[in-house]
Amino acid sequence: MLFKKNVVLRDGTNVLIESLTGKENIREFQRFINTLTGEGAYLLVDKPVTFKEEKQWLKAQIQAHKKGEQIYIKALANDHLIGDCFAKPGFGRNHGNKNLGIAIKKQWRGKGLGNIMLKELILLSEEKWHPKNVFMHVVSSNKNALSLYESLGFRKIAHLPQWFEYYGKYLDEIVLILEKN
Ligand SMILES: CC(C)(COP(=O)(O)OP(=O)(O)OC[C@H]1O[C@@H](n2cnc3c(N)ncnc32)[C@H](O)[C@@H]1OP(=O)(O)O)[C@@H](O)C(=O)NCCC(=O)NCCS
Repeated sequence: MLFKKNVVLRDGTNVLIESLTGKENIREFQRFINTLTGEGAYLLVDKPVTFKEEKQWLKAQIQAHKKGEQIYIKALANDHLIGDCFAKPGFGRNHGNKNLGIAIKKQWRGKGLGNIMLKELILLSEEKWHPKNVFMHVVSSNKNALSLYESLGFRKIAHLPQWFEYYGKYLDEIVLILEKN
């Protein structure tokens, strides 16, 4: 599935959002994830990744995207990676449930990019899979993420107490499901 679109953020910046092409710059992706882990973002990756790890990870994402096993969209401003998001089906009997995830580089947040990317991702997922459930996990203190997801039509369906390990503490996590129209 090839997807490519030019969008304009709230501050007027032009951003290209597109699916993985296979020509991604590994260092750019490594810098992106390591900046996020460095700031202590609420992501599953908990420590810096090496070039080798990132290379293997990226190769797996490109293959999975090309085979149609997931949707992976990146956002570029002046050819630099500023955000990414994915939709992944669960395993086996869970394949009807699609899990979404997203991360935007710090200086690019609050400009509407998360909103734009998730809307596109939801449309692409619905077109491709007609999913039974579209869901997201979020740390309960991640208020910006929660308000964004709720504004897109996600509804809280579960509270997982002390679920997400974060620097030696366990934080509560919320599961949200996209309401059907
Ligand atoms: C969660 C995240 C993806 C949102 O992306 P974003 O591009 O900032 O999202 P948007 O700009 O579309 O919307 C952010 C919403 O958060 C709130 N917000 C207000 N000020 C903000 C700020 N300075 N930065 C981020 N969000 C802000 C608003 O509610 C805004 O909604 P609005 O557009 O109606 O005003 C982004 O903050 C991020 O990558 N965070 C770090 C990684 C992370 O937490 N990922 C999610 C894991 S579940």
